Amino acid sequence: MSNDSWTAVDHYLTDRLASNEAAEAALKRNHSEGLPPIDVSAPLGRFLEVTARSIRARRILEIGTLGGYSTIWMARALPTDGRLISLEIDPKHADVARKNIDAAGLGARVDIRVGKALDSLAQLDREKVEPFDMAFIDADKANNPEYFRWALDHSRPGSILIVDNVVREGALLDESGKNASVVGARRLMDFVRQEKRVVATALQTVGTKGWDGFLHALVL
Ligand code: SAH
Ligand code: DHB
Ligand code: MG
Repeated sequence: MSNDSWTAVDHYLTDRLASNEAAEAALKRNHSEGLPPIDVSAPLGRFLEVTARSIRARRILEIGTLGGYSTIWMARALPTDGRLISLEIDPKHADVARKNIDAAGLGARVDIRVGKALDSLAQLDREKVEPFDMAFIDADKANNPEYFRWALDHSRPGSILIVDNVVREGALLDESGKNASVVGARRLMDFVRQEKRVVATALQTVGTKGWDGFLHALVL
């Protein structure tokens, strides 16, 4: 799966471009609390930060918090009065994330909502939440088309929508319908292809997390 030279290059790039004490401390706590090591890589976390900064994001939606590693990368790009809402189904994950985000000094910018993301999104609708400048979708992959659709409906022209893990060691090409995550990724591609409100691409990645990729969409 993950190739030694991909990992070595990722470490080199992380050292030069993506070292971040608060994010590294979060990974340590995640490990000691027994969370699965499925956070984004450091260079991808840095990419999320660069993206948020380049659009001067003030409001970010994240679906799938885990221990708040990707949350920390994005929240540090926000102005002090910016807001990031992150949705997480597992109360233990949310609890660890809260500790990590507070330790990073970013607690005031981040609102973690515990529950099934589809329920939390419905609740945000009832609250008439303001549109988001950026969304990072990284939870259960089967619901990716629904999450993307919601994020698009709650965005504005110029918003960026990113979906993690759409390639999965090439599993994207599996047409059998046996893997719900792959079905979610393929339905997402079909949705994006016909959706006139976005221009999008997907890029494959290699590194510490093996071979994967993400979808990157601009809302028109
Ligand atoms: N974005 C994180 C990694 C997220 S891992 C990072 O890069 O640091 C995926 C997370 O989605 C897990 O914590 C999992 O508990 C959560 N999740 C899975 N199904 C969910 C659902 N239906 N609603 C909300 N969160 C969900
Ligand atoms: C898994 C989830 C992720 O978001 C990821 O980046 C890698 C793996 C998983 O559920 O296995
Ligand atoms: Mg992911």
